[in-house]
Amino acid sequence: MRMISATFEKSAFKEPDWPRDKKPEIAFLGRSNVGKSSLMNSLLGVRGLARTSRTPGRTQALNFFLVNEKFRFVDLPGYGYARAPKNVKEQWNAAATDYLAQREELVLSVHLIDARHEPTASDLQLDEWLKHHGKPHVIVATKSDKLSNNELTRNLRRAKEILGTPEILPYSSVTGRGRDDIWRAINNALNR
Ligand code: GTP
Ligand code: MG
Repeated sequence: MRMISATFEKSAFKEPDWPRDKKPEIAFLGRSNVGKSSLMNSLLGVRGLARTSRTPGRTQALNFFLVNEKFRFVDLPGYGYARAPKNVKEQWNAAATDYLAQREELVLSVHLIDARHEPTASDLQLDEWLKHHGKPHVIVATKSDKLSNNELTRNLRRAKEILGTPEILPYSSVTGRGRDDIWRAINNALNR
């Protein structure tokens, strides 16, 4: 993908605020603090475009980014951040699940898991939901730079077993490892 432009377009909580012009969308989802914003920034080559933070749960709305005037990246609220106030948590869940269930423009979900840990119950739940609803998705194991090659191989094997999937793409926003593979998956989805 040749990057020509990437701009933050808008934040939205509810369906009436989603963009209306029918461009295809790639959504990034996973638990809070897993590295969604970092992955988007590194794919787009723009540092700080999608806000990254050390404070989990900062991103509460859906954030739309327009890429090359052709398609969008959508940063979904992270799940599983227990310390958020209850009503905020409900709003996150509603915003993300409404989007996943309803959005016709969605051509690919990029589901991030943490390469260091076993997939969580919420990871499994999301994966099962995506499969059940026939949503095209790819699983990315991020923060792979924090593991040795042996540990990474072992953890990827374990995560594939737990999630029942033949492929998980290892990734690091620090080294850029896996970037080409993720772009390939995105391009395939855009060209389908
Ligand atoms: P929320 O928006 O709060 O749900 O978080 P997020 O999923 O967008 O995570 P974010 O990209 O903000 O990253 C969280 C923290 O993890 C930041 O401190 C990042 O610098 C760090 N991080 C993200 N990806 C990587 C990675 O591949 N390797 C390492 N070492 N750190 C990473
Ligand atoms: Mg974020």
